Amino acid sequence: MGLAARIYDATWGRGFAAVYDRGLKATEDAGLREIRREVLAGASGRTIDIGAGTGVNIELFPSQVTELVLAEPDPHMAAKLRPKLRASSVEAEVIEAPAEQLSFESSSFDTAVFTLVLWTVPDPAAALAEAARILRPEGAAVFVTPNRLTFARPDEIIDPYHYVEYDPAQLRELCEVHFGSVELHGIFGSQRYSQLIAEQLARLDRLLRRDPLRLRRLIPRRLRQRLYDRRLASERSEPDPRAAAITVDDFELRADALDKAHDLVAVCHAPGRG
Ligand SMILES: C[S@@+](CC[C@H](N)C(=O)[O-])C[C@H]1O[C@@H](n2cnc3c(N)ncnc32)[C@H](O)[C@@H]1O
Repeated sequence: MGLAARIYDATWGRGFAAVYDRGLKATEDAGLREIRREVLAGASGRTIDIGAGTGVNIELFPSQVTELVLAEPDPHMAAKLRPKLRASSVEAEVIEAPAEQLSFESSSFDTAVFTLVLWTVPDPAAALAEAARILRPEGAAVFVTPNRLTFARPDEIIDPYHYVEYDPAQLRELCEVHFGSVELHGIFGSQRYSQLIAEQLARLDRLLRRDPLRLRRLIPRRLRQRLYDRRLASERSEPDPRAAAITVDDFELRADALDKAHDLVAVCHAPGRG
């Protein structure tokens, strides 16, 4: 395996239609699904899931959601999403559209959610402006995104699908441009979960030390993505029993010491009044 492949093997895998559900299953089963449910519990009325991916959220919206729209620009992800939706009891409209350009009237939604999406959006500022535009004045947007300070490397974006990674202050600053009220929370892991993450980061550090000149940055993004996809498809074939033992009780959502959170959750109200 080449250096780039090993580097990407050592990072968290997210995304990518062919392997997305398989790649994420262990994490979802371990507790991410219940955290998602908790984060989505505040959704109500006409709701749009932006960057809906393969539809991992569809069964998790609460009953107060009266109408659901799933926006997903990637045709491969949308092709996974549609059959999953048909097989479920959930009624929703699927549109293939990017967050930056949603063809909906202004003030036409009550809730907009972005779970693990902002980092893959080429123009996040435009995406937030668009979310604020389509929300009603009393509407809310929820963003879940990894914390740059604890994800991979704080000084470098390693994942070839990511355009941006935020720390708590940066996420707040981004949201406050478009929303009058921003509450930040963090998703924290237990000691044993944090230990697994620390080991993963140590492996990544060892690999990156072999490339001190950061020549990896010269590899075209497309190629890095293909290497990453290939590794993601084959990785986790022998699951770590310690990872298998992680449950929802290993995670908690709270608002203090956010720099140490694994993921960040921003709940934003007062759209357009930032
Ligand atoms: C990591 S996946 C997250 C999927 C899903 N929201 C979840 O929580 O599992 C990121 C998703 O964002 C989508 N995406 C990429 N660029 C986007 C954009 N400009 N607007 C909206 N979604 C985008 C990708 O196609 C992908 O489905």
